[in-house]
Amino acid sequence: MKLRPGTLAPCLLAVVLACLAAAMRASSAAERSAPARPAPACAQVKSHADEWVASSVDALVRAAGAAYERDEAEPAYTRLLGRLADTVERCGLARDADFVQAHREFVGYVEAAAPATLPDHELGFAVTDRRYFDETRAYVGIPDFLTESGFVHSASRSETLPRAKEYLRRLNSERAPSEQLLFFSYRSRHLGTPDNDDSYLRLLVVVPGDAARGVPEKWVQFGVTDPGVRARTRNVSVVSSLARADGTSDVYFKDYYRTYRRDGTIPIKGRWELGYGDDNCVLCHKSGVLPIFPEAGSVSAEERGAVEEVNRRFRGYGTPRFGGYLDGSKFGPGLGASDGADREGRFGAGFRGSAVAGAMTCAACHRADYLGALNWPMDSTLISSYVEGGQMPRGHELPDGVRRELYAKLVREYFDADAARPGIFKSWLLGRLR
Ligand code: HEC
Ligand code: HEC
Repeated sequence: MKLRPGTLAPCLLAVVLACLAAAMRASSAAERSAPARPAPACAQVKSHADEWVASSVDALVRAAGAAYERDEAEPAYTRLLGRLADTVERCGLARDADFVQAHREFVGYVEAAAPATLPDHELGFAVTDRRYFDETRAYVGIPDFLTESGFVHSASRSETLPRAKEYLRRLNSERAPSEQLLFFSYRSRHLGTPDNDDSYLRLLVVVPGDAARGVPEKWVQFGVTDPGVRARTRNVSVVSSLARADGTSDVYFKDYYRTYRRDGTIPIKGRWELGYGDDNCVLCHKSGVLPIFPEAGSVSAEERGAVEEVNRRFRGYGTPRFGGYLDGSKFGPGLGASDGADREGRFGAGFRGSAVAGAMTCAACHRADYLGALNWPMDSTLISSYVEGGQMPRGHELPDGVRRELYAKLVREYFDADAARPGIFKSWLLGRLR
């Protein structure tokens, strides 16, 4: 699943609606030409609950595995999940104590994952996008001093970045030590901006918060137009993190777009409010705020300390939560959450001692009660980029070939739908990992 880069980029609201209507017509035409799939009768589902769940889980895991690998397979997964959610709802399965007892993981997953299939839930949260942005406004606003017009001008082009930084330094000279802004520019290794697949240059400004007063720390990131490029990058993103007393942090998200007006002004408004849709941020931001691993050589010597400092802050945020809008535990364990015996069965005797097996340690850190599990739905571009690019797992020096094998095996072990030896996702959905 790769949603972010370039999603719906040039669409205005009217066009988006037309696109959606066309897509819906196309899919209902496809449904009509496919063999009819009648909704199962509730009596049948309930009297053969184990079989119905087993076949639903099998289909769901296969569809999810395909959607992880290929965007084109995503609509089929989405339709299937929608049908399952409909049956759970229609037959009252979530209110049936015996059913829930036997199939807790399956019911929980379908209920938590299904909202993301609705068109007004592009962020993938339990509430509509409109309600999320209404309720979280106080957490994800861009501070006034970062919408100041001279600053926005100079932050929008690589040629004028030094001026933007000069402005930030001036602000810092008037701010208390605990309120110092941390900032640097860098090139992303991983992705372009939602409005431009080819735009990798960023200016990141971390604005300290005050957890005691309920003010989150804000990571405000400007996409910066490359030297000499005419079409200016529009995106500005905010991720904010509010530490809680229990060692978790609530994380909130919002994308904004700049509009480069002919009169020279550059107003900034919500991307979703402007009609450009949105992305499911948590697909990639499982750990809440993400650390920055810039493209080699893209950060100046004076700013390297700031990169280290922001990543140090990230590590202090603790276990990510999403303000009650998404419950990560309903999505189960993630990549690497298996053991040596299971791996010997899947990958052959003797596998346990190999370099690849030794590196399949992701779940030691990426688990629900620590960094957040790397579970479906997740983004294949991001995961392959971290594993094959050498950033993960931490502290392992591995040759490229081993890294590619590591990635392939992690993905297979997670999505394997094999009846005799189901992978992590399927085993969990079937209630076998209790
Ligand atoms: C396809 C994966 C992906 C998606 C989807 C995604 N991001 Fe990110 N984002 C990243 C990566 C990777 C980084 C780390 C910086 C880098 O290497 O580019 C990042 C960094 C950021 C940052 C800088 C602070 C930080 O966490 O490092 C902000 C702000 C941000 N993203 C906002 C958003 C918002 C808002 C959304 C949803 C509307 C979103 N992102 C969706 C991959 C993604
Ligand atoms: C020893 C702990 C540890 C292990 C083991 C580990 N990671 Fe990480 N991972 C981290 C930390 C900490 C971060 C945040 C970046 C940082 O501070 O370096 C991270 C970040 C990531 C990210 C960036 C997005 C996100 O959700 O944070 C991905 C993807 C990732 N790891 C994948 C993996 C995979 C796949 C494996 C197994 C092959 C793995 N990691 C093993 C600690 C670990």
